[in-house]
Amino acid sequence: MNPLDFRIIPFDSNIDRDTFDSSIEPLNDYIKKYAKNNHLKGIGKTFLLIDSSKNLAGYYTVSMAEILYDTLPEESRKKLPRYPIPAMRIGRLAVDKKYHGIGLGGRLLVDALNRAIHLFDEIGIYTVIVDAKNESAIKFYEHYGFTKFYDRSNSLFLPIQAILKALK
Ligand SMILES: CC(C)(COP(=O)(O)OP(=O)(O)OC[C@H]1O[C@@H](n2cnc3c(N)ncnc32)[C@H](O)[C@@H]1OP(=O)(O)O)[C@@H](O)C(=O)NCCC(=O)NCCS
Repeated sequence: MNPLDFRIIPFDSNIDRDTFDSSIEPLNDYIKKYAKNNHLKGIGKTFLLIDSSKNLAGYYTVSMAEILYDTLPEESRKKLPRYPIPAMRIGRLAVDKKYHGIGLGGRLLVDALNRAIHLFDEIGIYTVIVDAKNESAIKFYEHYGFTKFYDRSNSLFLPIQAILKALK
């Protein structure tokens, strides 16, 4: 399947979510049971990746977050205030296992990072943080330059300056 046949749209409850299977149960559950309510309430915005027949191929969910100065690695603390630092969180990102390995996870991630650039321009954020569900997901994010926090092994971050350098 050609990755160009896919597009990313804001959450739409007309897109069928029942058969979505990323192979990670909490991520399957989230899109089926919780994404709609959280999207509508502003708790977490979900964006859907759909193919040309409007089948759900993947999704990600973003929200605002804060990180604590003390959780950053030593070298990242320079020239930062000691109060909580604004961030965008990619809480969930998943591709249906039928479509793994053809560039769609990367495409979802870049789309989310472009949203972070808009936030940086409009409101101001210092970094993007991600919650990885397992070791393989950690490796996926590290592949894109994310670094682990000092004290939280499954959370990683990528400063907005690095994102701007890569995407703007
Ligand atoms: C992790 C996941 C999103 C990757 O999606 P994908 O569509 O298979 O990945 P892509 O084909 O877009 O890969 C993009 C790049 O990341 C690399 N990559 C993908 N998965 C990787 C992994 N687990 N470890 C290291 N690198 C990885 C690819 O080699 C590729 O590199 P390249 O651009 O240099 O060729 C997908 O496997 C998935 O949904 N897994 C289950 C849910 C999950 O773990 N989500 C993430 C945490 S919430």
